[in-house]
Amino acid sequence: MLESKLHLKDSITLKMPGDKSISHRAVLFSALAKGKSKITGFLEAEDPLNTMKSFSKLGVNYKKIDKGIYEVNSPGKKNLKSPTEVLDFGNGGTGIRLSAGLLSGLEGITCELTGDASLRKRPMKRIIDPLTQMGAQIFSINQDDKAPLKIIGTRLKPFKYKSSLSSAQVKSCLMLAAISSDVSLDYEEEELSRDHTENMVKFLGGKIFPKDKFRFVLEPPYEFVGTEFHIPGDISSAAFFIVFGLLARSGSILIPNIGLNPARIGIISILKEMGGKIEIENERMECGEKIADLRVYPSQLKKIIISKSLIPSIIDEIPILTIAGLFAERGFEIRHAEDLRAKESDRIHSMVSNLQRLGIEVEEYKDGYAFEEVNEIKENLIQSFMDHRIAMSFLILKTLLQNNIQIDDESWISTSFPEFHKLLDISVSK
Ligand code: S3P
Repeated sequence: MLESKLHLKDSITLKMPGDKSISHRAVLFSALAKGKSKITGFLEAEDPLNTMKSFSKLGVNYKKIDKGIYEVNSPGKKNLKSPTEVLDFGNGGTGIRLSAGLLSGLEGITCELTGDASLRKRPMKRIIDPLTQMGAQIFSINQDDKAPLKIIGTRLKPFKYKSSLSSAQVKSCLMLAAISSDVSLDYEEEELSRDHTENMVKFLGGKIFPKDKFRFVLEPPYEFVGTEFHIPGDISSAAFFIVFGLLARSGSILIPNIGLNPARIGIISILKEMGGKIEIENERMECGEKIADLRVYPSQLKKIIISKSLIPSIIDEIPILTIAGLFAERGFEIRHAEDLRAKESDRIHSMVSNLQRLGIEVEEYKDGYAFEEVNEIKENLIQSFMDHRIAMSFLILKTLLQNNIQIDDESWISTSFPEFHKLLDISVSK
């Protein structure tokens, strides 16, 4: 079995940056809500900042007060104006897909949405099709079902949709389209995807009627007014340091104030089942979201079977979970995760090819990959594939093994976690 060489001294506390999903949504809902809002704990990383910059081009005023604290002034959804420039969402799939929904439902708005080379490769058909069925005028400019997208805002129709994907981006895109057009949405998905948008609607006083375990109806009115959004720490960022703390040989890590949305805690339940010692302390609610402090101790991990129903809940954590699998008795297997191929990179290919570069025999499937227990790895160059989570996962591995693995381009990390290197340095030097 692979063994970590890293010893942490005593207990360290690592404060995680704000949740990326909730940061995007705080920007969008503060734009929809008329008047003044305040956002605290905002993730100041490229992705959510790009969403913020885009909405400032529609007439929303965002003013930084302090680190992670913004004051927002919006004229309200009916008074947003067409931007004169293209809206650039950089690497942010959540930014472009959710904004596309919101903007499609705003009569009188004409705009173009784009992103970087990675984002322009990602599928947009999953939102173009249902939005078009709702009556939206949204077009892929290169007619390849990808960004750049052209939107001519229209009054949409009430809509009923059963999604074959358990995707919070698709769900939230359609919810925001319904909200900006003041129509109802009857939405059903196969498994519960993260429900931050639902929580935010309820927090703002909107009405959501559950119809089934995975089906709800959203009903107007949506007359939201400015308020205060508190954003918890990001469980997806914490995941890197949870795995790090579990695999260190000594010490412990306390990670305070982490969002524990039930549709995102798969990483905790899976790592616990693998043998990880993770304690959840101080559970509380804030702005409709459950939050708590996490404490992580060195543990011996083992292989488990990861069920299909948990995939939406760990979709962003599979790269770092795979790193945990390198240290697990009997190896690691992930299946039912085909949508990994539609992330910032094709994450099945990114993980398999990088693991092979490290000399690991990996079986690749259409929907996942598997490897037997690993005893040693070769030092080699890792390709980040324009993907922040691939770069961070292998940096955690490198730090645990204290070896010479190199990453070709670490700059992608700043799309979601600009403080990653600093926190890693703190962990190692203490
Ligand atoms: C997100 C949803 C997930 C996730 C992404 C953020 C969100 O995508 O991978 O990083 O904020 O709604 P899908 O819902 O498309 O799986």
